[in-house]
Amino acid sequence: MESKELLEKLEEKNQKAMEGGGPDRIKKQHDSGKLTARERIDKLLDEGTFVELDRFKVHRCTDFGMENKKILGDGVVTGYGLLHGRQVFVFAQDFTAHGGSLSLAHAEKICKILQHAMRVGAPVIGLNDSGGARIQEGVMSLAGYGDIFLLNVLASGVIPQISAIMGPSAGGAVYSPALTDWVFMVENTSYMFITGPEVVKSVTREDVTMEELGGAMAHSSKSGVAHFPCPNDETCIEKIRELMSFLPQNNMEDPPRRSTNDDPMRREESICKIVPSDPNKPYDIRDVITTCLDDNYFFEVHEHWAPSIVVGFGRFDGMPVGIVANQPAAMAGVLDINASNKSARFVRFCDCFNIPLVIFEDVPGFMPGTHQEHGGIIKHGAKLIYAFAEATVPRVTVITRKAYGGAYIVMSSKHLRGDIIMAYPNAEIAVMGADGAVNIICRSQIKKADDPETERRRLIEDYRDKFSNPYNAAEHGYIDEVIDPADTRPKIIQALRMLSNKRDTNPPKKHGNIPL
Ligand code: HXC
Repeated sequence: MESKELLEKLEEKNQKAMEGGGPDRIKKQHDSGKLTARERIDKLLDEGTFVELDRFKVHRCTDFGMENKKILGDGVVTGYGLLHGRQVFVFAQDFTAHGGSLSLAHAEKICKILQHAMRVGAPVIGLNDSGGARIQEGVMSLAGYGDIFLLNVLASGVIPQISAIMGPSAGGAVYSPALTDWVFMVENTSYMFITGPEVVKSVTREDVTMEELGGAMAHSSKSGVAHFPCPNDETCIEKIRELMSFLPQNNMEDPPRRSTNDDPMRREESICKIVPSDPNKPYDIRDVITTCLDDNYFFEVHEHWAPSIVVGFGRFDGMPVGIVANQPAAMAGVLDINASNKSARFVRFCDCFNIPLVIFEDVPGFMPGTHQEHGGIIKHGAKLIYAFAEATVPRVTVITRKAYGGAYIVMSSKHLRGDIIMAYPNAEIAVMGADGAVNIICRSQIKKADDPETERRRLIEDYRDKFSNPYNAAEHGYIDEVIDPADTRPKIIQALRMLSNKRDTNPPKKHGNIPL
């Protein structure tokens, strides 16, 4: 065969592969508000950088007439390319080909991507849009899932893994995204559940829609399975690109710096007005966070779940950091089960990938009540202690107001190897608030007084003078600096610069046993 003919044959095969499941199914995909797998990859990666692998791979199933139903690529487009000029690996399931369902061949393509990514130390982004296990393949398909799960786990903490759910994700198939670091979901076109509404109805008699059961908002606000709900495919892809700008390539690298014109020594008098001195008045901690960060830009994670704690990414003097902050505007910033889980997982991600942590602390304690106790607040709260205690990345804490009880210890205190702890002059570091403390320890003294109410107020003032301030903790060295709130940004940047070469380790072990 002449080389011209060979090239024509190649071109023909390439054209065939590009068609996926064919024009009718592509139209159906578009009509349902979704982009195709290839369109998604084109938008995700830097223009013209995608290199496809396994374009001609097909399944090997011969049951149910499948030998006559082969589609080049077998329902998933895989390869590598650049994102912000950096290497990433990507797979995008193609719903137009066998409903994006997962055959063994399809799984092998995804595994190849994961293996390459681990070897070269580059992130993996999976765009999921699949009817689940290829029903015609039976156990072969389940084996494919198992192979992917194993690699997801081995890659965990080595390379960042990102999942976008851009269509169906049902049954055991949901566990690959759940094993990855970040889950994006598209509203109205994606859903994740172990069993769909019909099975739910037959087992529990509940009537529930797909969206209510496993839609983007359900998982972003109720279960916490998803971190980012997005209105459509385009926004989802833009958000993935944004997240990637904060992440290093792998666990051996530092996150990428970005130059900024924002003055590192910028003072902000407005912070004094944001934080009320009355310990019971709410305020939005995001106002403090954004005021301090470079260009006032904060990329919030898990915005709709566990609102009493705020986590996300930002930059100080160009350096990406992870922010963990109690939120006095939501349930006074109390630590409950969800807040503990949300923040513990975020802290561990940052620690895996060398992202320094900045903690803004204003916390009244752990959430009381039977619901929390019986739900296991003890073991869930312990996760946050564990996560901070084992974290070896630079950690800077700013106590903006309250730091009471066990919650003071948990929030990256000196005692858990927090590197630099600062407090505002109005900060209260104590076992509990003055009112509660006096009611417990001075009850009989108050009862015996001629004027119990005046005595109670006097004792509260005494307690405040002694404990409800940052100076008692500073005398012990538990607080490194009491700072003017206006200096928060420069002070954090100075501390982060000082810590930039920090090296710390944990004792050698197979792995710890975090309370799950
Ligand atoms: C093989 C599948 C498929 C599957 C869809 N298709 N799911 N083929 N295996 N799992 C095919 C359809 O036959 C159809 O082929 C094409 O994909 C499009 O599907 P439609 O049903 O026409 O699309 P739509 O109406 O949008 O419905 C999408 C859907 C539905 C809701 C996802 O297809 C569906 O319910 N599929 C089965 C879901 C399921 O039960 N999966 C197994 C989950 S358990 P044609 O040729 O007609 O276009 C699981 C276990 C994992 O995954 C365990 C891991 C450990």
